[in-house]
Amino acid sequence: MEIAITGATGFVGTRLVERLIEEGHKVKVFTRSPSRARKVFPLSAFPKVEVVGYTPTASGDWQQQISGCDGVVNLAGETISERWTAERKRRILNSRKLGTQKLVEAIEQAENRPAVLVSGSAVGYYGTSETAEFYETSEPVQDDFLSEVCQAWEGEAEKVKAFGTRLVIIRTGIVLGMGGAIERMLTPFRLYAGGPIGSGKQWFSWIHRDDLVNLFIKGLTDASMEGVYNGTAPNPVRMGELCNTLGKVMDRPSWLPVPDFVIETLLGDGAVVVLEGQKVLPERTQAAGFEFQYPQVEAALRDVVS
Ligand SMILES: NC(=O)c1ccc[n+]([C@@H]2O[C@H](COP(=O)([O-])OP(=O)(O)OC[C@H]3O[C@@H](n4cnc5c(N)ncnc54)[C@H](OP(=O)(O)O)[C@@H]3O)[C@@H](O)[C@H]2O)c1
Repeated sequence: MEIAITGATGFVGTRLVERLIEEGHKVKVFTRSPSRARKVFPLSAFPKVEVVGYTPTASGDWQQQISGCDGVVNLAGETISERWTAERKRRILNSRKLGTQKLVEAIEQAENRPAVLVSGSAVGYYGTSETAEFYETSEPVQDDFLSEVCQAWEGEAEKVKAFGTRLVIIRTGIVLGMGGAIERMLTPFRLYAGGPIGSGKQWFSWIHRDDLVNLFIKGLTDASMEGVYNGTAPNPVRMGELCNTLGKVMDRPSWLPVPDFVIETLLGDGAVVVLEGQKVLPERTQAAGFEFQYPQVEAALRDVVS
């Protein structure tokens, strides 16, 4: 298959590209910076990766490059792990809402239309709660910035259904892998001062990066998959348990609470994701027969910190 991917140069995308290439597929990387993307995917190691420069939020010639691809993966988006100024909030929303709109426009115009769009979203869709459990069928919340971003992002992707393209939306939890948010959270643990973050009672719905990549590939290749799937492991944990497990696998004490400001320094306003969480269960994902390689957080963390 030939797969078009936006956001391919990021933390999740790079691993997805590697896996698709390992499985014998061709990949078209849509990037704002072709020269940087070529450094991420050098021709010598990735001869089957084609790099296409694009402006995600504007119509243009790049859209013609979607025609002939078998599937499209939509991962592009401005990072949330920085201070949320008004301008950055606009970019967080626009890069996903307008970016998805232009991608869907490209699919609509394609002479040879891709059969499937696998589009990212996040568990922020459900808002935060210490007590509720969220499933794919749960309603979103109002007056919550991240939920509004996810609703707008998904809303644009939904439009692809009008012209018969299969749509899979993956509502992703916090992705565990070297280079992700967890790496920044390891810093206080490395300094011997890692412990509960926030109240410790908030939920942490996580997924190992390898499992998430496998889920995206299943979404591309399994024609029976359609609609929303939670990209979270079946055993979410409270933050207290996450930090205890992190202390255990790193062989470090984990009783010193990490002040909120440390986490805010490390994660910017995106810290809200770990200071106020949600318990999300992958009900439809498991019903679709998806097998998690890392269902438990301890094995996932051991793999990440090893
Ligand atoms: N990592 C997580 O824990 C997590 C959890 C839930 C949801 N997600 C979502 O999943 C997607 C992929 O996550 P990730 O961790 O791989 O993200 P990432 O490492 O930040 O990479 C995102 C990619 O999107 C592109 N991008 C960045 N800013 C952009 C902008 N303003 N406009 C358009 N494109 C932009 C970049 O590609 P180019 O520079 O090549 O264009 C970048 O490589 C994101 O949308 C993220 O919100 C991630």
